[in-house]
Amino acid sequence: MTLENSRAPVTVFPDAACRYFTGPSPRPSPCACGPRDSPASDLVIERNTAPSPKPDPSTLVFGKQFSDHMLTIDWSDKDGWEAPQIKPFQNLSLHPASSALHYSIELFEGMKAFRGVDDRIRLFRPMHNMERMHRSAERSCLPLFDKAELLECIRKLVEVDQEWVPYSLDASLYIRPTFIGVEPSLGVSRAGKAMLFVIVGPVGPYFATGSFNPVSLLADPSFVRAWRGGVGAYKMGGNYGPTIAVQNVALQKGCQQVLWLYGEQEEITEVGTMNLFIYWTAENGEKELITPPLDGIILPGVTRQSLLDLSRAWGEFKVTERRMDMKELLGALDAGRVLEVFGAGTACVVCPVGSLLYKDKTYQIPTMQNGPDLAKRFYKELTDMQVGDRPHQAAHSPRVMLLS
Ligand SMILES: Cc1ncc(COP(=O)(O)O)c(C=O)c1O
Repeated sequence: MTLENSRAPVTVFPDAACRYFTGPSPRPSPCACGPRDSPASDLVIERNTAPSPKPDPSTLVFGKQFSDHMLTIDWSDKDGWEAPQIKPFQNLSLHPASSALHYSIELFEGMKAFRGVDDRIRLFRPMHNMERMHRSAERSCLPLFDKAELLECIRKLVEVDQEWVPYSLDASLYIRPTFIGVEPSLGVSRAGKAMLFVIVGPVGPYFATGSFNPVSLLADPSFVRAWRGGVGAYKMGGNYGPTIAVQNVALQKGCQQVLWLYGEQEEITEVGTMNLFIYWTAENGEKELITPPLDGIILPGVTRQSLLDLSRAWGEFKVTERRMDMKELLGALDAGRVLEVFGAGTACVVCPVGSLLYKDKTYQIPTMQNGPDLAKRFYKELTDMQVGDRPHQAAHSPRVMLLS
């Protein structure tokens, strides 16, 4: 079916290869059966005849407003993938025994579409999200899907709801692909029925004031987000629900976010729902950007990869993926060697860290006093790309290219 009223072209930043996805391709999953790989060409579009008014971009609250349409794709052992459907936004009807509701057979993604200075709409490196979603599906024993086809369905959804992409350089359209097991059975086993759906909604800027606000972190080794052998590297709902109580502890102690530690060495892993970066002067006097490695307990963030790609392309300082523990971080803070600490994620791009509460002592982190030069530079580079405000020179990041 063709799309009516297509105005702004929706551009995808393609990204064929990525460091953490260049390993052997996923084993053919026993779940990956079905006659059809959810081909976008079979997409059926039913338009919403009662579209909602669009909110004022300056009043947006994250995750509360949704567009007029959604994408759904059903799958079953028996029939494989059904034709994808874009239809009016609506409630789901689920069997009460659906496996997603009982055993968290659920995974999701988080990505954004931006309206650029040229009024074109861009998705930022969305193939990374498709790759990550595919790996989460494999780990959840949900059926595998064709990443390019799913991305094309998502692109069409954004095209249908393009008026929901805010006319603002500060706001964007948040895209939430979700995949759930809907097997109507209480047996703890692979879901023989599943539903992949995508909802989208406008979101405002992370930094409401337009400038960086540093966050304070609680680092409490008694809480763990993920562990080796577990599923922290996958974007599954089950990883997130249990963090809310810890986030509340952080708030009660006057901190805004949690610095997740791991193991007896108190390795620093992630911050809230962001990857962590430390920019410092190493003991040998060299400037270095460090982020924890993708060793199973870290979510492979699209922003994380983009910052690594950019800084390696710049070649101006050392870039290292390695473990760092609290002792080393506090020692470097004491020695005045830490320049900037920041989180990185789709929500904010980069988020400076200003202080750390650890074992009842507050440690100040001089991120803001140092600009933060690097965090601001990353922010500008990425947001300029997202809104099409600069040509994407291959030297900066060859994989981030503007193609329709
Ligand atoms: C635990 C966790 N780490 C890191 C990130 C950042 O990932 P991305 O840059 O893909 O948004 C997220 C974002 O969803 C997250 O949930």
